[in-house]
Amino acid sequence: MCGIVAYLGQKRAEPILVEGLKRLEYRGYDSSGIAVIGPEKMRLVRSAGRISNLEELLTEENIIGTLGVAHTRWATHGKPSTENAHPHLDHTGRIAIVHNGIIENYTTLKQWLIEKGCSFSSETDSEVIANLISFFYHDRANLDLPEGRDEPAGHLTAATRLALRELAGTYGIAVICQDAPDVLITARRGSPIVLGVGDGEFVVASDVAAIIKHTSQAVYLGDNEMAVISRDGYQTSTIDNVPVASRIEQIEYLLEEIELAGFDHYMAKEIFEQPKTLKACLSGRLDTNEGRIQLGGIADISRELVRARRINIAACGTAWHAGLVGEYLFEELAGLPTDVDYASEFRYRNPIIEEGTIQIVVSQSGETIDTLAALREARQRGALSLGVVNSVGSTIARETDAGIYLHVGPEIGVASTKAFTGQVAVLTMLALYIARRRHMSQQRLSEYINALNRIPDQVDTILTQSDTIRQVAQEYSQRENWLFLGRGYQFPVALEGALKLKEISYIHAEGLPAAEMKHGPIALITPEMPVVFIATHCSQYEKVMGNMEEVKARGGRIIAVATEGDERINNYADHVFSIPDTLDELQPLLTVVPLQLLAYHAAVIRGHDVDKPRNLDKSVTVE
Ligand code: AGP
Ligand code: GLU
Repeated sequence: MCGIVAYLGQKRAEPILVEGLKRLEYRGYDSSGIAVIGPEKMRLVRSAGRISNLEELLTEENIIGTLGVAHTRWATHGKPSTENAHPHLDHTGRIAIVHNGIIENYTTLKQWLIEKGCSFSSETDSEVIANLISFFYHDRANLDLPEGRDEPAGHLTAATRLALRELAGTYGIAVICQDAPDVLITARRGSPIVLGVGDGEFVVASDVAAIIKHTSQAVYLGDNEMAVISRDGYQTSTIDNVPVASRIEQIEYLLEEIELAGFDHYMAKEIFEQPKTLKACLSGRLDTNEGRIQLGGIADISRELVRARRINIAACGTAWHAGLVGEYLFEELAGLPTDVDYASEFRYRNPIIEEGTIQIVVSQSGETIDTLAALREARQRGALSLGVVNSVGSTIARETDAGIYLHVGPEIGVASTKAFTGQVAVLTMLALYIARRRHMSQQRLSEYINALNRIPDQVDTILTQSDTIRQVAQEYSQRENWLFLGRGYQFPVALEGALKLKEISYIHAEGLPAAEMKHGPIALITPEMPVVFIATHCSQYEKVMGNMEEVKARGGRIIAVATEGDERINNYADHVFSIPDTLDELQPLLTVVPLQLLAYHAAVIRGHDVDKPRNLDKSVTVE
């Protein structure tokens, strides 16, 4: 995906746009640019590379003007370069657009526009939007103008509507025009757009992180909706010009939640925030006195949940790993048949959704396009949908029948950490909620509630080992192939540990069920390959010991995550990260933390940009 920011108000747009881009840089960072309408003409400044490159160029300019658009890119069509950076102008140079998404029919549109006399200067799909609006804007005879709107702002609005109807694919856009210096247009289909309503000023962005500094009043556009913003107000409608009542909502989090707060990276901050974020996630949901789980967001579907015949979980990446923990939890605690799908596979299979199926979609951003598509597919086939989402007001949160927010606060680091433990905590509570309403005794539930209440402090204890973990990362950070092994609840954690290492240190790492070693991967074992075992006290402890023995016998170097006080592990492991003991079902909340730290330290030691790893971005809103 990428980050869009636009401003219309009384202040100079340029610094507001650049500051907004920096708050969205986690969404895409291969190039960036701004376009501002000033007294003389449209000013366009773009740069390949990080936003700091753009800032450098801007110091040589003095861009005035109170209307502008800006973009930080994650390229899908056309290499990262200045020419392909947004904003894109139409061939007359008077209309500028920024775009998040993919225009699937751009080659057809581009060819048609070239035949109509338009010229292009980039390889991107997005540039066709600028020229398509321009084509309709100049084709006045065919503009469907509302009464009294025969003027540039009216022309631009009507032309934008016509252009959007021609687009196949996804978009979140902002549009400005030199002839209409008091109008900002924004629209969305499949990519998020939020309109911040300030005091005599408006900020449009892909994410509230770029808005919160200016206002806490936000309007979240829905799919196929657009907003026409002027200096004294805004109208929301469908792109077919059907008025839509705008819904101003209060942005729930504060600016300091998206600041670094003294950490070197957001990922470090978010790892160390987990005692606090887990407390926030559990808060108000574990009634220790009554021994109850309280999940307000699912009260309306409580009956269907308890009577469900099957659960399908769909998600991507780290969220999929959390879903895998959920599968073990729902089957073991609630006795509910459960399967987990990669959302990208679910949507293109012919998934069988029987009566009584509930689909749970797990997503930090609530904007991942594959997960959104899986949700829509399952709902269309009759499933009841439940969202486990972090971003309030996100598309997935809006489209599910019910949902449970993580409440872990905005996650800025591309590598998901506090969202993973939040997702697992919510899925654990949901499984216990259903279990208690099916067959779990009050006493057994109280044991889980008491153990859950201890988790935040136990995570705190683990974090004190960060320096020990850094030393181990130092010793092995140059090894290019790692294995992560676990059984039962620890198998998804092994997958998550491998993904963390892969995505920020660029080391090849693979997660496997520990028992799978014998079916091939054991051929890989050499003293050069670190093998991380999650070997805590649990029902399969002895089996894991046996697997460690097999690796040890072949000269493998073992790093183990083990239960505090386990002396036996030292006979097998070269390095041990200890975690406090807890119930098997709750251990993923603890065992993942040393692996997050291991990946973080390895990436820092290898000199990588931890928060903006190459080729990645925070939420994949393009296919
Ligand atoms: C995890 O560290 C990655 N950032 C990625 O796998 C992520 O979990 C995945 O893209 C899903 O994102 P979502 O939770 O926002 O849907
Ligand atoms: N498809 C557009 C481009 O490649 C936008 C990419 C995005 O949304 O990140 O420039």
